[in-house]
Amino acid sequence: MKAVIKSAPGRGVDYVADHPDPKATDGHVVIQIAASSLCGTDRELYEWTPSAQAFGMNLPVVLGHEGAGTVVEVGAGVVGLRVGDRVALESHLACGRCFPCRTGAAHTCELTGIIGMHIDGVFAEYMAAPQEICVPLPESATLETGALLEAAGVAVHAIQRADYSVAGRAVLVSGGGPVGLILAHLARQMGAAHLVVVEPNPYRRGQADALDVRTMSPDDDVVQQCRDLTGHRGGFDVAFECSGAPGTLATLFEAVRREATVVTIGHPGRPTEIDIAAHVNKKGVTLRGIFGRRLWETWEQTMLLLDGGRLDLDWLITHRMPLDRVDEAVELLTGEAGKVLLVPGNGPAPS
Ligand SMILES: NC(=O)c1ccc[n+]([C@@H]2O[C@H](COP(=O)([O-])OP(=O)(O)OC[C@H]3O[C@@H](n4cnc5c(N)ncnc54)[C@H](O)[C@@H]3O)[C@@H](O)[C@H]2O)c1
Ligand SMILES: [Zn+2]
Ligand SMILES: [Zn+2]
Repeated sequence: MKAVIKSAPGRGVDYVADHPDPKATDGHVVIQIAASSLCGTDRELYEWTPSAQAFGMNLPVVLGHEGAGTVVEVGAGVVGLRVGDRVALESHLACGRCFPCRTGAAHTCELTGIIGMHIDGVFAEYMAAPQEICVPLPESATLETGALLEAAGVAVHAIQRADYSVAGRAVLVSGGGPVGLILAHLARQMGAAHLVVVEPNPYRRGQADALDVRTMSPDDDVVQQCRDLTGHRGGFDVAFECSGAPGTLATLFEAVRREATVVTIGHPGRPTEIDIAAHVNKKGVTLRGIFGRRLWETWEQTMLLLDGGRLDLDWLITHRMPLDRVDEAVELLTGEAGKVLLVPGNGPAPS
């Protein structure tokens, strides 16, 4: 089969046309991948940055952790999945045995593996997936939408982590990449009163504009504008950090009101200083972070939003490419693009 492989430590990836097809071993299904999507992590893996190296990948490995497809083969011991089922994939492999896993916090599993890093992933025509990570899609959802649900789940998880407190609230989103934009889209759908996206890339600000949100550049006086918008409240009610850019957290702490909530999603590449006395103690800001999706509350919530017509992701897709154009796809991630899909078949992904 065609596949994109990280063969060895170092920059770049390999496209191969004759990788062996996977088999449906015990507890696994083989999925024909209809579409997969790239995210910033794939760029890190491509560039082989220190944070990529920190994942401890099992090389060589088929890359790709965001994808969806159709079950074409079912292994022994699989329950509840059949040939023909359309599924999205959770990307985290939880061990099921550690303390977090046994107490309902498997998203912080001590032994988390990730598809496309620790087992072969979705940048291929087929993937052998453990049955646990397959999430059946509602009939109304296309497989391309399915390929974006892993990323959408990150945004949903962040809203869950803020106790869903976006309705009627002043909501600040730092970073208008796919995660920030999906978060803004959901906050709009859920009835945010004020909604601001801070993003330096004009193309992405344009995508945010289309969501009927107020956009700002980090070069604008974000803090003053947020205070002006909220008057005597003194700042925004909730802020989501979705850029990973160093230094943004200080701006968010200043732009929110007393007793506000700040949720971090972006992973800064290095440790960040926080003014505990000014912001956490005296101002009373609650700081929370998220990793992946809560298993399985986030998926249940995401599917409810999808099925209820409240989560639309089609607008986010700007490029569809075959697997052999992966280098170009990675290049697009920092340019004029929203979500870039890799489609292994010829033509658009089947629905
Ligand atoms: N916590 C998790 O589980 C989790 C899951 C997925 C992604 N992430 C992280 O979340 C972040 C967002 O993911 P994404 O796929 O949307 O990434 P992305 O890189 O596509 O988006 C980040 C956006 O932030 C913008 N940005 C850069 N500097 C900024 C600044 N100073 N202020 C505001 N915006 C700025 C960039 O232009 C870009 O559009 C990344 O850091 C990613 O690694 C975390
Ligand atoms: Zn990702
Ligand atoms: Zn575990």
